[in-house]
Amino acid sequence: MATVTGDAKAAYEAFAPVYDIFTAHYDDELWIGELVSALERNGLSGNRLLDVACGTGRSFLPMLERGWDVTACDISPAMLERARTKVGEAVSLSVADMRGLPEIGKFDLVWALDDSINYLLSEDELLKALSGMGANLAPGGLLLFDVNTLNAYRSSFAETVVVERAGKRLVWRGQAARDAPPGSICEAVLEEDGGPTKTHVHRQRHFADAEIRSVVERASLTLVDVYGLYTDGILRQPVDESAHTKAVYIAKRQ
Ligand SMILES: C[S@@+](CC[C@H](N)C(=O)[O-])C[C@H]1O[C@@H](n2cnc3c(N)ncnc32)[C@H](O)[C@@H]1O
Repeated sequence: MATVTGDAKAAYEAFAPVYDIFTAHYDDELWIGELVSALERNGLSGNRLLDVACGTGRSFLPMLERGWDVTACDISPAMLERARTKVGEAVSLSVADMRGLPEIGKFDLVWALDDSINYLLSEDELLKALSGMGANLAPGGLLLFDVNTLNAYRSSFAETVVVERAGKRLVWRGQAARDAPPGSICEAVLEEDGGPTKTHVHRQRHFADAEIRSVVERASLTLVDVYGLYTDGILRQPVDESAHTKAVYIAKRQ
């Protein structure tokens, strides 16, 4: 039986070959369009994007199509390899851990999407990630990230979902309690083809709104807007932790 750890890099090295199959039903165009509209309401300008925890490129491909100059990084070389097959040299891709992000450049927009932030397991890790992302912002640039709500941990991290697509059978087994408390570390086990040999664990931490606001401030950032969303990808205000599945935060440098 393969070694199963809750380490994010190990999880995505194993997940990479089937990640795009598992997420094929997501409407990336609609989702990114909603995010760009929200950013524009908050003064987005320029065309330089840094996509942190870019994975296989789902979160930057719609921006590339919009004419943005994209730079992207991720902790998982295998996820980046998948991204590379889609974009060749059109995007600068590098391996980087967001808990120790180097200064890659100055960007009009830095984002980390689709609950990548929840793989950080403490406030200290969140502070390191937000500080590093903030240090890559150009003057007037915006930072956007989303996080899973408590509702997400009490629902999708507490149930089993089977995805059968492209000849694969992927089983997501949420291990969390239906009453997981705020700040919980929750796990889901992903099994491929039902066998024990291709199994990996997603370990995530819930960050409550008050915690995020405090860490944003400590990272020398100012929060400018917050939205909630259901799985339909449409942004709504105000955020409802008990109903929405994600919360989206937009910040700028102080
Ligand atoms: C759910 S995927 C999202 C990928 C992409 N943003 C998308 O929207 O499809 C989470 C990504 O976070 C990355 N990740 C997790 N922890 C990380 C860390 N500490 N630094 C950089 N990337 C990380 C994983 O490798 C994975 O590609």
